[in-house]
Amino acid sequence: MNKNIVILGTQWGDEGKGKIVDVLTSKNSYVVRYQGGHNAGHTLVIDGKKIVLHLVPSGLLRDDVIGIIAHGVVLSPFALFQEVDMLENLGFHIKNRLFISDMSPLILKYHVAMDIAREKKLGLNALGTTGRGIGPAYEDKISRCSILCGDLKDIKILSVKLEKILDYYNHQFISFYNQPMMYYKDIIKELLPVIDFCHDMIQDTTDMLHNTVKNRKNIIFEGAQGSFLDVDHGTYPYVTSSNSTVGGIMTGTGVGPKHLDYILGITKAYSTRVGNGPFPTELFDDVDKHLSYYGHEFGSTTGRKRRTGWLDIVLLCRAIYLNSLSSLCLTKLDVLDGLKEIKICIAYKNIQTLEVIKYPSMYHLQNMRPIYETHPGWMQKTKGVTKLKDLPNEAQRYIHRIEELTNTPISIISTGPDRLHTIFIKDFTPI
Ligand code: GDP
Ligand code: IMO
Ligand code: MG
Repeated sequence: MNKNIVILGTQWGDEGKGKIVDVLTSKNSYVVRYQGGHNAGHTLVIDGKKIVLHLVPSGLLRDDVIGIIAHGVVLSPFALFQEVDMLENLGFHIKNRLFISDMSPLILKYHVAMDIAREKKLGLNALGTTGRGIGPAYEDKISRCSILCGDLKDIKILSVKLEKILDYYNHQFISFYNQPMMYYKDIIKELLPVIDFCHDMIQDTTDMLHNTVKNRKNIIFEGAQGSFLDVDHGTYPYVTSSNSTVGGIMTGTGVGPKHLDYILGITKAYSTRVGNGPFPTELFDDVDKHLSYYGHEFGSTTGRKRRTGWLDIVLLCRAIYLNSLSSLCLTKLDVLDGLKEIKICIAYKNIQTLEVIKYPSMYHLQNMRPIYETHPGWMQKTKGVTKLKDLPNEAQRYIHRIEELTNTPISIISTGPDRLHTIFIKDFTPI
């Protein structure tokens, strides 16, 4: 078993990362979120019960696991409070096993208001954000005016910083966005109960992780979003505001590359995207209806319908090299059950130059149209299958073809939302 495993999305998010993090987390290990915020929605199905996590690392629902929200995450203390409360009420005692970085920038209500106001102003050109304040919170970090989690421990520092930053936000709210002003005293008042709640969780998580690595404990790094929502490598500007590719781990936790032993890329057996932006293999036909219906493709955070499309090998190959992937985990194979034929995009045609392109620049992605290879589908049920040999031949051939086209092994296949609906092929053993 590998010591430190990275689990990240290779598409536009919602690949099924949460389920796989939960499946691969073992006792006494650490699960770390390193970027994003409560824009993420990671769904676990345990004993038939569905639980959606936004901030709490997915493996934490197993006993004796420690959860860390590192400084690369932008943290809404209210969202955290609500989520921990929900889990404690369900009987998961996680509060004393969860730590948050003192250096995490906070998301407060002015970030949310700014996110929503900006999207409204963009009208038809809106990015389709989750409206959780993620972009503005990361902007504050880069402009060096964030309020940090550590500031929650000192009301005086918190008040001075809040008053100053609100001056700037209020100026924009009033003069540009036609929004009401916000007052720092109101925000402090709302924060008081959550300050109490967060107090003991706030730590130097970089140091904690350094000791964890030194003591050779297992760490799972849980990615949020997907590779093509990365602010540097994604379909800019239709991206999130953090590095969801592997680089985000180094800057977002302080753990260096030599400690990343295995990098597992989670890939849906087809594609989905929520929000706006280029999506070369997008479908608008009955197959979209099939994928949407059988895959329950509605956002875990906002409930929006996810756009659907065929698997895109061109982008998948790019995600493999962007993240130095060790292998792939193919999820939601069962959703393809009953389709007569299944397509895989193997290259693009540029609609302006008519050239066939295998390695497009992300800058030109909106001009690319897919070139497909068509495979026979299967009519049998694969849902819940736990052994490769029990999959229909057509499904095995589809899996093998993806390995061939990407030159990358598939080590895990997910055949349903439950922990148990999993096929382990290589490298991993069930827990
Ligand atoms: P994440 O954001 O990457 O963790 O993924 P989400 O939880 O947002 O979306 C994945 C959805 O697919 C969730 O509803 C999961 O319960 C579900 N899911 C995960 N793996 C499988 C699978 O293999 N088959 C099916 N049918 N559903 C799955
Ligand atoms: P998980 O971790 C899918 C998308 C939004 C929007 C863009 C920017 O569950 O895979 P933001 O609110 O981050 O500024 O929105 O990013 N987005 C996601 N799409 N899954 C997610 O997370 C997402 N988090 C953000 O829909 O297009
Ligand atoms: Mg999700």
